[in-house]
Amino acid sequence: MAMLIKNKNMAFSLILMCLMVVSPMAKAQLGGLLSGPSVINIQGAVMCSINGSVATNATSIPFAGARVLLQCAGQNITTTTTDANGVFSFSPNLALLNSLSALLSSGCRVIVTTPLSACNANLPTNSVLMATVNLAGTILTGGINILQFVNGLFRLI
Ligand SMILES: *[C@@H]1O[C@H](CO)[C@@H](O)[C@H](O)[C@H]1NC(C)=O
Ligand SMILES: *[C@@H]1O[C@H](CO)[C@@H](O)[C@H](O)[C@H]1NC(C)=O
Ligand SMILES: *[C@@H]1O[C@H](CO)[C@@H](O)[C@H](O)[C@H]1NC(C)=O
Repeated sequence: MAMLIKNKNMAFSLILMCLMVVSPMAKAQLGGLLSGPSVINIQGAVMCSINGSVATNATSIPFAGARVLLQCAGQNITTTTTDANGVFSFSPNLALLNSLSALLSSGCRVIVTTPLSACNANLPTNSVLMATVNLAGTILTGGINILQFVNGLFRLI
């Protein structure tokens, strides 16, 4: 067991050095859909509203500086912070790579852990926004598959 873990860690280090290239195992989980190395990118946007959505009128403002947590299969994977436009992005890293199968089976979600009251004092202080994470598409560039994921509709939990 200890040896297995050691080998796994070694494999992960190698993967890191190879610019986040998907491991053979993760590639197998893609069911042969992709051939060659892959990079995972997750992006989205959060608005300051009870559903986090872009509202149909200009009163909707971005939720800037909000902390966004990526959870896969109930585990905290990584966090990021929204920019001035409410846009967040989890740049490719090892944690995302290890979550690929969960990502592909809709097992991941993003949670805005900063309460909505931080952007509008009239909004709830003790509920958080949550959204599923969905595959938006894959782009093949320079022989590398970029798997682009985006958030689904946010809802308060
Ligand atoms: C999100 O909430 C706003 C009001 O805060 C509403 O106008 C809009 O229709 C809602 N969007 C969705 C997709 O439910
Ligand atoms: C704009 O949307 C907000 C909620 O998102 C709503 O309260 C407000 O009435 C809307 N304003 C107009 C002009 O439609
Ligand atoms: C995951 O992150 C959330 C929000 O920061 C926190 O409340 C929770 O305790 C964390 N869970 C674990 C297992 O670390």
